[in-house]
Amino acid sequence: MGRSATGALLAVVGLLLPLVISDAIRNPIRLPSDRIDDPRVDGGDDAVGTRWAVLIAGSRGYYNYRHQADICHAYQIMKNGGLKDENIIVFMYDDIAYNEENPRPGVIINHPKGGDVYAGVPKDYVGDDVNVNNFFAVLLGNKTALTGGSGKVVNSGPDDHIFVFYSDHGGPGVLGLPTYPYLYSDELVDVLKKKHALGSYRSLVFYLEACESGSIFEGLLPEDINIYATTASNAYESSWGTYCPGEDLSLPPEFHTCLGDLYSVSWMEDSSKLSVASIYSDIHNLRTETLKQQYQLIKTRTSVHDNYRHGSHVMQYGNLELNAEKLFLYLGSNPANDNATFIEDNSLLSFHKAAVNQRDADLVYFWHKYQRAPLGSSQKHDAHKELLDVMAHRLHIDASVELIGNLLFGAERGPEVLQMVRPAGQPLVDDWSCLRSMVRTFERHCGSLSEYGMKHTRSLSNICNAGVDEETMAKVSAQACASIPANPWSSLQRGLSA
Ligand SMILES: *[C@@H]1O[C@H](CO)[C@@H](O)[C@H](O)[C@H]1NC(C)=O
Ligand SMILES: *[C@@H]1O[C@H](CO)[C@@H](O)[C@H](O)[C@H]1NC(C)=O
Repeated sequence: MGRSATGALLAVVGLLLPLVISDAIRNPIRLPSDRIDDPRVDGGDDAVGTRWAVLIAGSRGYYNYRHQADICHAYQIMKNGGLKDENIIVFMYDDIAYNEENPRPGVIINHPKGGDVYAGVPKDYVGDDVNVNNFFAVLLGNKTALTGGSGKVVNSGPDDHIFVFYSDHGGPGVLGLPTYPYLYSDELVDVLKKKHALGSYRSLVFYLEACESGSIFEGLLPEDINIYATTASNAYESSWGTYCPGEDLSLPPEFHTCLGDLYSVSWMEDSSKLSVASIYSDIHNLRTETLKQQYQLIKTRTSVHDNYRHGSHVMQYGNLELNAEKLFLYLGSNPANDNATFIEDNSLLSFHKAAVNQRDADLVYFWHKYQRAPLGSSQKHDAHKELLDVMAHRLHIDASVELIGNLLFGAERGPEVLQMVRPAGQPLVDDWSCLRSMVRTFERHCGSLSEYGMKHTRSLSNICNAGVDEETMAKVSAQACASIPANPWSSLQRGLSA
């Protein structure tokens, strides 16, 4: 290289260097962890990519009011946090706000003193479009796999952060939907692995409210795909509805259904001042509060003073290192909360006495509906029939499963085999397609499991784990169930749940 060429090069470098340095000062190269901690980075900054949220209520029916209330409330938090509607995808059956039983038409609340959380919620997937196929298509960003709905999908890139919140009934290894089939753990975790393999997120946080929700991730969710999950309960206990009729004196008397779920309202009331400004002394700053701090707060509140009598064990799964991240990375931040500090005392608030085991919340509803109906009215008559139907279904399902266990393993060992819980870290079942096939075999002979019957997927899993084949299962199911009871819960009209 000649002297003049070298000189020209140096001159160019000399000109560029100050530019490069000043650019570095304005946009310092940061490690991912630095970026997360940088409070100056706000919702619109490309440095953190885009925030996405998928919010799904998996039930329908006024007696399940609380799940859609949870989801609507979560939407308001995301919206206030600065996420755009194009990045928030909502699944809800949408039969609550204008339900004939709703005392406040067009309004949904998630706290006895709370305001409306329904206004503005996008109706991306409503009615029968709330189904497992659409949920997976949305997560994977696959528009061609959708049926119906708004067509919004998580069209995310490698720098993006995704937040998923699911609120519903569940059972071991299974989550409910307002449509059949239900969602099974192995399929969900496969979809999450696929999303990771597509390189289309930096990290994903999954908050899950359902009975036995720990079983969805236990022994299944890998630690190395940048996913952090917390669940309302461990793998073998129910989760809890809250703000329920009966004991909660603050519940407006016109409601005879639970308004929220304990784990769900715990994280949301920790994240937002929307519904509970009068109760909380302070509201956390989502720019400084970490996922771990929130996990510990909701764990304490959901345990109900550590006695778990009306509460459950909140669990965490996946890549636990992610819990050092700030909530703000997923939920954004409402500027109104930005000066708040983190105060541990928030966890000590107690108004959980009206919690109801999620699985019994429908009984509470049907009972109060019956109680309230005027004596001698046709409503009273109908409510009485509804209550008897739901109880008959429960008795039938419980007795049938028990009998099948006895026929397979003997009266002595039967209950023990069916109820066995595998040690922590092991998935519920080794062969998930066996579980689905056992569910179908059971339902063909004994009728639909329905929401309540999901609790028996542990027994059906254990039947698989014990090596029982489908033919034997069909034979004993036919013996145990002479016919399918004629009530709406057992009906197979809507198809099989697996
Ligand atoms: C999207 O869904 C369609 C239809 O189910 C499927 O054929 C296709 O392979 C999917 N694309 C991707 C990228 O997964
Ligand atoms: C937060 O504090 C700053 C500085 O004291 C102040 O200018 C701002 O108005 C405060 N914001 C809120 C929402 O209170």
